[in-house]
Amino acid sequence: MPTSPALHFTHEPLSVILPALRAALADAGEVALTVPDPDLGLGLYAGEATAHGLHRPWHTWTDLADLLGAHLLTPERVGAGRVRLRLRAWADVPGPDAGGYGAGGDWARVDKLEDPVFLLTLVEALRRVSPPQGGRVLALGVNRGRELDALELAFPGRGLDVVGVDLSASALAAAQARHPGATFLELNVTTLPRPELGRFDLVLALSLLQSPGIRQDVLLAALRRHHLTPSGGLILGYPNARYRDGSLSYGARLRNFARPDLSLLAADVTEARRGLHKAGFKVFVTGKYEVLVTAIPAEARTPGNLELSSGFRMNRDAITGMP
Ligand SMILES: C[S@@+](CC[C@H](N)C(=O)[O-])C[C@H]1O[C@@H](n2cnc3c(N)ncnc32)[C@H](O)[C@@H]1O
Repeated sequence: MPTSPALHFTHEPLSVILPALRAALADAGEVALTVPDPDLGLGLYAGEATAHGLHRPWHTWTDLADLLGAHLLTPERVGAGRVRLRLRAWADVPGPDAGGYGAGGDWARVDKLEDPVFLLTLVEALRRVSPPQGGRVLALGVNRGRELDALELAFPGRGLDVVGVDLSASALAAAQARHPGATFLELNVTTLPRPELGRFDLVLALSLLQSPGIRQDVLLAALRRHHLTPSGGLILGYPNARYRDGSLSYGARLRNFARPDLSLLAADVTEARRGLHKAGFKVFVTGKYEVLVTAIPAEARTPGNLELSSGFRMNRDAITGMP
């Protein structure tokens, strides 16, 4: 891919840099730039002066790449306190969900537990709910069951009884292969409540509630009234990102909007939070690329020790029965 000659930035504000990079990317699909080495300004805020120009942390450049729809390629040091960066425009490929959620599709390439914020906030949310030893877990829209791996991370050895449901038979077959001890059912969540399923200590619904045909108020009421134990809790996930060309790009998108717009996300999270609060739950809202709404009974003790810990620590917790 042709790269135009590197642009050199020292004291220019970001308001000058951003449009210059956008224009260069639009022209050539790739742009190189040299900037002050972020390592030399550690502790400074973005825009504070250094001997080599205005400091900006790596975070600025990763955010900028995301905003401009580009990969940030591995930087190189180019002497005298400067680094050379390159941005390469994302390939014009469909998102991994464009072909649906079957096991053979691109959605199967997505591993949300590789997003550090998701990993930590999901484990934290799970530990807030903390189903008991041998407790029952219902995972709605479970797809191929990747998120269920987090149960063992949060509660090693707790022997949970897991039921996963989804519309996609091929995704459920993959989930069954991944979690042979769990039960997977091909079921439309709009048919809930289903008394034969019984009650659960934890209900998980990640990136499901905004799917076509689902009314979250109806589904949440059915779950609360018919599928939760009195001490049970819920974890609801709302995507605040989209996947494109291998990247997780910040911000929920509305249909036909080019730029992120968080209106629907904010409305749905607010509605879920308010409804659960009214129904007697303590509610936590966490996360970044996926916003998690965690609800536990208002009278429940808010658990501590929410961190994902090392194997050693987790084993000790399992032995001592700590939440
Ligand atoms: C965006 S994917 C999320 C998968 C997984 N929970 C995750 O967070 O990565 C949505 C999943 O919900 C399933 N789904 C959508 N509508 C559904 C419905 N009405 N009943 C059951 N599953 C549904 C889809 O088949 C798909 O596997």
